[in-house]
Amino acid sequence: MADELRVRLAGYPSLVLGLPTGNTPVPFYQELIRLHRASLLSLAQATSFNLDEYLGLAPGDPRSFRAWMQAQLFSQVDLPANRTHLPDPVEPAAAAEESRRYELLIREAGGVDWMLLGIGRNGHIGFNEPGSPRTSRTRLVELEAKTIADAAKTFGGEQHVPRRAITMGIGTILEARAIRVMAFGSAKAEIVQRALTGEPTELVPASLLAGHADVRFLLDTESARLLSQ
Ligand code: GLP
Repeated sequence: MADELRVRLAGYPSLVLGLPTGNTPVPFYQELIRLHRASLLSLAQATSFNLDEYLGLAPGDPRSFRAWMQAQLFSQVDLPANRTHLPDPVEPAAAAEESRRYELLIREAGGVDWMLLGIGRNGHIGFNEPGSPRTSRTRLVELEAKTIADAAKTFGGEQHVPRRAITMGIGTILEARAIRVMAFGSAKAEIVQRALTGEPTELVPASLLAGHADVRFLLDTESARLLSQ
């Protein structure tokens, strides 16, 4: 994946990226940093839009996705700070306005050229939980119990995990020109099987990616375990 991005950036330095958080993209970000340090990759003219952000955190909260991206990638590559975008962790009452602002920013940037995604154990992409409409746009969402449980470690207990977030919608994600999905480990095997072999359904948001003209999945042996059965 990192090498594909390196080649794309070499040909088109002002690429617009869609980026995820989570454990899954960590090796990818580390590889980008390595390539950057070796002067093989530059993000100096690129722009990034993250998929999502928790609501109800103070700006700069170390548990925010903004802080996570800063630590994992932004502080270690040459992507200009004013071209790294995440939804602001506003109060829920301001979420509709913030969502509109985010959609407009993406549009003004010319849309996302290359979108990287992870998959939640329940099939979510970004924070589009099961049942999210295929045509959904950036908006406030309520997180599912499974998603809250998966975030508990970061927040020091489930009771501290924000219940709401802003996420790019499935419609927003599907407008990206290229979509790359990564899923690693046996905990993702079941959802990878449902996403790739079942009928596309809003109950498994990742399955809706199948309708995209340029989507690729990068799996490891464990996450692909149930595909050959
Ligand atoms: C998070 C993010 C998703 C991510 C998913 C999987 O909640 N909002 O964008 O893909 O969970 O996380 P992980 O990669 O840690 O399994």
